[in-house]
Amino acid sequence: NIARLEELGYRVVRPDSGELACGTEGPGRLPDADRLVEEVRAVLAPKDLAGRHVLVSAGPTREPIDPVRCVTNRSSGRMGYAVAACARRRGATVTLVTGPTALAPPAGCEVVAVETAEEMNQAMRSRVTSADVVVMVAAVADYRPVDVAPAKLKKKSEGLTVRMERTPDILSGLASARGSRVLVGFAAETEQVRENALDKLKRKGLDLIVANDVSCPDRGFDVDTNAALLIDCNGEEEETGLLSKEQLADRILDRVVALLAGSGRRRVANRRR
Ligand code: PMT
Repeated sequence: NIARLEELGYRVVRPDSGELACGTEGPGRLPDADRLVEEVRAVLAPKDLAGRHVLVSAGPTREPIDPVRCVTNRSSGRMGYAVAACARRRGATVTLVTGPTALAPPAGCEVVAVETAEEMNQAMRSRVTSADVVVMVAAVADYRPVDVAPAKLKKKSEGLTVRMERTPDILSGLASARGSRVLVGFAAETEQVRENALDKLKRKGLDLIVANDVSCPDRGFDVDTNAALLIDCNGEEEETGLLSKEQLADRILDRVVALLAGSGRRRVANRRR
């Protein structure tokens, strides 16, 4: 029986529920192929994040102008969801804080849906104390409209000026009360990728930055592939070349595991306080 198999350490994929061939309803259906593949991948993955809590952000934020319009960006959520799925497979407990996307939630992750940068900020801050690792993949809007119109704006004039203000820098806020947590940021760049990423690594007080050149069509926003320059706070750099977003997620997590395990003293010494 299933309980006994689980007791013996076997991983059992329980049947789906629904309409059965014999005419009744209940558990007994073959699970979706996607779920079966995910279970097999989880069994095969190393469990080097077991016992760790990984907090990931993904997707865009949406800053309202009026009840029907908003300021947003082209993030599909794929990169962040890949980090969440891979961390889960590697044994972590995963919380995914996500802006609006069209993606199915990754198996086994706690998913927290948000819209605005402020909501994402609150969601991250309220969950960070239990996290060992934070990976901030979300493309957070840097600016939001100062005033949100309570009713749909009418087309009265030729032009429209929307006054904008800065949103909170979520990563910098998380870095200021970090403890021994590993903090990973992304840098979406279109020029001087290395210089800008190094600046963000230091300015935001990160352990690792993942810099992607989002001006190339096969990487960055809304595609299945990505390529990154990984720079850590010990000065180690790695060009990944073009990978699937899941492959890149695993490369990032390899670095995270190394940061968690080994170089604590150097890491702390190199951090901005
Ligand atoms: O979602 P996909 O379609 O798969 O696309 C993936 C991606 C291009 C969104 C992803 O690879 C990526 O680059 N994410 C970071 C996007 C971004 O906002 O980069 P940035 O260089 O503007 O910000 C630097 C870091 O600060 C990021 O980790 C960002 O999450 C964080 N940030 C930014 C602004 C803000 N107000 N608060 C933040 O915490």
